[in-house]
Amino acid sequence: MLTYDPFVTTGGDLYALYERLRDEAPVYWAEETGAFVLSRYEDVASALADTDAFSSDAMRGVLMGAPTGKGEERLPRSDAIGMLVSVDPPAHSELRRIVSRGFTPRQMAGWHNHIDETVRMLLDAAPTDEPFDVIAGLGARVPVRVIAALVGADPDHEDRFRLWADAATSVMSGSARVTGMQNEEAMAMMAMAADLGERIDARREEPRDDLLTAIVRAQGEDVLTREEAVGFAALLLFAGTETTTNLIGNAVAALLAHPDELERVQKDPSRISRVMEETLRWDSPVQYVFRRTTRPVERHGVMMPVDANVTLLLGAANRDPRKWGDDAHRFDPGRDASGHVAFGFGPHFCLGAALARAETSSALEHLLPRLRGEAVAGEVEWVDSMQFRGRRRLPVTLSTAPTG
Ligand code: HEM
Repeated sequence: MLTYDPFVTTGGDLYALYERLRDEAPVYWAEETGAFVLSRYEDVASALADTDAFSSDAMRGVLMGAPTGKGEERLPRSDAIGMLVSVDPPAHSELRRIVSRGFTPRQMAGWHNHIDETVRMLLDAAPTDEPFDVIAGLGARVPVRVIAALVGADPDHEDRFRLWADAATSVMSGSARVTGMQNEEAMAMMAMAADLGERIDARREEPRDDLLTAIVRAQGEDVLTREEAVGFAALLLFAGTETTTNLIGNAVAALLAHPDELERVQKDPSRISRVMEETLRWDSPVQYVFRRTTRPVERHGVMMPVDANVTLLLGAANRDPRKWGDDAHRFDPGRDASGHVAFGFGPHFCLGAALARAETSSALEHLLPRLRGEAVAGEVEWVDSMQFRGRRRLPVTLSTAPTG
């Protein structure tokens, strides 16, 4: 029997299950979550692009238990309190235009140095006489420090940010969906919102050349309210940390499992971006997103009624042989992975994709020359999320840093 549920099914061998979903039940009903599941590339990509029939308000409805619209109704922008990812056009286009001001190529150029410095600092401190955990020592730390700097916070408070991001992930798609949030985590979340709010007020008084200022400084009518700005900054912390950690970890794990590819990229670092894109396709850090049907939609002879929650399995679409050929299951950085939906597609395409790519390529560029081929054995421990895919620990051995 074929059983899959976005909030029940966990573990290593998701991909065999995805193959069965694509072949046997391309429109699958997951009873526990109460959501349809689409797994073929064509169906996932077209739903991502079709904001008329598929509303993103399910991103806060299913993940956060917040109210959604009914039928064609779109909730006002104010209801989303900055959760850009859950707002539909036309309000989405308005919000996206404002927050994109913080993600210009000029700003990106400034981040590159900061990212490289952070990666170097962390790797300089890495031990060579005992296993180095790529996740705890690098993958988890780079994104948190970068986002903290982006929202004007002290990167040395990274432990607090991490606690907050982990708690938010666990509540939305991990074990805390059932157990509820621990006191300490709830306190961390409240402290974070208060902290962000104070810095936002400070930027209004005294603008700086940074992302927070860019989003709260009025340009004509285009401005975020204080509440929206806090919500958006919190979304960045959440969306930009765990995801990038998993991309770094998944890329290193893929290379350790494919020693010939590791050797190839170590000899030719220009292959790093191919390794990264193939990892995004082959082992996607975000496995699914949700949508709500705004009217009845039929696919493969199954009618999904109006107001149905729909799971779009990015991780399954990215391995669909109908799109990628018969060797879709193979990790092959030599292939053309463009068109993968790991960052989504259409109007909600990941706002931080360039930043995530910059962090990951910097991490790989500095780590790979020192990475010894053998993985340190041990049971794989997955992150506490069914939506995000990545390892909690990834011990490796490193050679000493080159001098000079
Ligand atoms: C490898 C790392 C990352 C992955 C795999 C990833 C994945 C995604 C995906 C799949 C979406 C689309 C959601 C949807 O359509 O419902 C998305 C949206 C978004 N991501 Fe990322 N993300 C990553 C890193 C980042 C970073 C570093 C940031 C911020 C600094 C970020 C900020 C956002 C935001 C703000 C949105 C909402 C965009 C919108 O709704 O217009 N992400 N991301």
